Amino acid sequence: MRFLLFFLVFNISNFISAQISNNDENIYDSLFVKWNDTFLTPKNTALNLVCPKIDTVRIAVIGLGNRGMMAIERLPQIPTIKIVAIADIDSNKVNKALRSLHDTQFDLPKPYYEKNDWKLICQRNDIDLIYVCTHWELHTPIAIYAMEHDKHVAVEVPAALTVDECWQLVKTAEKTRKHCIQLENCMYDFFELTALNMVQNNLLGEVVHVEGAYIHDLRSLNFSNTYYWNNWRLKRLQQTNGNTYPTHGLGPLAHLLNIHRGDKMSHLVSMSSDQFGLTKYANDQLKDSDNWKGNKFEKGDMNTTLIKTANGKTIMLQHDVTSPRPYSRLFTVSGTDGFIQKYPKPTIALEPKAHFSFSSKQIDSIMTVYEPKTIKEIKEKALKVGGHGGMDFIMDYRLIYCLNNGLPLDQDVYDAAEWSSIIELSKKSVRSGSKAVKIPDFTRNNWNVLNKVSYYLK
Ligand SMILES: NC(=O)c1ccc[n+]([C@@H]2O[C@H](COP(=O)([O-])OP(=O)(O)OC[C@H]3O[C@@H](n4cnc5c(N)ncnc54)[C@H](O)[C@@H]3O)[C@@H](O)[C@H]2O)c1
Repeated sequence: MRFLLFFLVFNISNFISAQISNNDENIYDSLFVKWNDTFLTPKNTALNLVCPKIDTVRIAVIGLGNRGMMAIERLPQIPTIKIVAIADIDSNKVNKALRSLHDTQFDLPKPYYEKNDWKLICQRNDIDLIYVCTHWELHTPIAIYAMEHDKHVAVEVPAALTVDECWQLVKTAEKTRKHCIQLENCMYDFFELTALNMVQNNLLGEVVHVEGAYIHDLRSLNFSNTYYWNNWRLKRLQQTNGNTYPTHGLGPLAHLLNIHRGDKMSHLVSMSSDQFGLTKYANDQLKDSDNWKGNKFEKGDMNTTLIKTANGKTIMLQHDVTSPRPYSRLFTVSGTDGFIQKYPKPTIALEPKAHFSFSSKQIDSIMTVYEPKTIKEIKEKALKVGGHGGMDFIMDYRLIYCLNNGLPLDQDVYDAAEWSSIIELSKKSVRSGSKAVKIPDFTRNNWNVLNKVSYYLK
């Protein structure tokens, strides 16, 4: 296959796109597979959880800040949903969301304005999905309460802040048989999805080492008095060290490595630099009257966490939201037969010429070959609706498609728990002088019942 690819890329790269678009089936599709009941797993787990089909998914969106408002604008672009409730403690945001929905939806949702109204919403019997976009501290409490009241739940990242919360999510999903999905949109960027399909086509041989990150200069937003409600994000940096936001970097890597579908994360070590950037920014940029001036912050600027898997693979994960540098999630994949990297510049290198990357034009051709057909079909709409370049729309589209068709979701509650658990575990390792910390097996020994990551089609 590799020989064929080299031939195609070096000789007739223009032919490839035509070839793919003329075919009904993409022979390289491996990630998206037709659901088959033989994939069903033991009743006591929530692996490949199947729930009854929902023709029109009735949604409540809780938290209408930056992220919640984006959801309010995106979700109505999917015809098989209806937003039936919206909530925020800021009445301006609720009213803004109502105005926005006025243009896209015939029936307006019921608005909620009080601190604990999310409980009333979960108690309603005409809602299928609770879509949580609040600050982090409310994610697990709302998710648990929603599942206990017979609702599926989609929670912004991270789904949980402690290992204990991770276990609560897993046990509640298993008990209630409800979906609990983390809204990890970075899984659905075109590059990551296509790279996952390439890896599943064995283009890189055995994947040995991967790297991911959340490197995003958030200093001005964090210190803003209006951007995040009640400075919730800066308060976390004040109180805690380690990797405080691991899922954007880790999620796509975990699916590349088939974590809890044949492999599992066994332990980690974590190290943080000291804290410099927030203090410097506060000293240099804030007015003397600003409440944040002179505050102390726990969070070291750069955290690096190394994870080892049961099958002998390594994951390097970084987090830095306080340094002046370009945005990066790294997304580096190194295998026995090749290499893929997204940041800072898309790179693909394959044996026997892996000393050098393919050119940008050649990379585009390869990506065209391996981009899953399902993604090609919704790409134009995703680019039009947008949300981080379209990946947010693909995430919503896949979630609703699976609920409409009674299929297991692309991400399950174990993903949510595993990726979120790194917050507390990395902190623990940093505190202990970077000692190794065991990562719980949230599937309780069922991590190799499935043998690969699949996204299902009806
Ligand atoms: N996936 C992504 O790309 C992405 C990007 C940005 C943020 N996020 C996540 O989205 C979440 C929200 O981030 P944001 O930037 O929108 O923050 P934000 O501060 O703008 O929004 C949080 C909202 O929650 C509301 N809120 C607080 N208490 C409430 C309560 N009791 N009931 C209802 N609403 C309440 C606040 O009023 C605010 O409007 C966070 O978890 C964040 O990590 C994800």
